[in-house]
Amino acid sequence: MAAMRILVGSVYGGALLTARAIKQALENEGHSVTVLENPVLDDITGNNDALLVCTSTTGQGEVPPNLLPFYLSLREQLPQQPGRPFGVIVLGDSSYGDTFCGAGELLEEALYETAARKVGDTLQIDALETLDPEQEALPWVRQWVAAL
Ligand SMILES: Cc1cc2nc3c(=O)[nH]c(=O)nc-3n(C[C@H](O)[C@H](O)[C@H](O)COP(=O)(O)O)c2cc1C
Repeated sequence: MAAMRILVGSVYGGALLTARAIKQALENEGHSVTVLENPVLDDITGNNDALLVCTSTTGQGEVPPNLLPFYLSLREQLPQQPGRPFGVIVLGDSSYGDTFCGAGELLEEALYETAARKVGDTLQIDALETLDPEQEALPWVRQWVAAL
């Protein structure tokens, strides 16, 4: 059974609902899931849980305000996490063009700089194509957990 922490970035609640749906589904399957709605660096440094970023994209390819303090401290302090598994689910809207799902790339780059290890490909959920991000996220996350 896996233990994981979900780092949520959300403006309008879609990514947060997705994270909560993941928690419910995976806990029913015996995993341990902590949803961090306003994460700080200490939430990840005192443990070795797998990390799952579940964030939307705001502004022009930017990290939502509730995840921004975590992101900035991660970039600034780069606490080394060699080999620690992480995954990325990012919500966006392809009508934004070049900045589509940019927040996921920012978090991925910062986590790579801590020497964490990415598991699986990033799941990009396009608001133009789906109104129900949970339904896309659940099958993906089951594969992700199996690959941890
Ligand atoms: C003001 C604003 C800016 C946005 N900027 C981007 C962007 O740069 N790139 C992108 O892919 N999506 C962008 N989006 C789309 C959101 O990421 C998308 O609608 C997402 O599903 C919202 O998730 P949330 O409910 O968790 O905030 C933007 C949406 C708004 C309202």
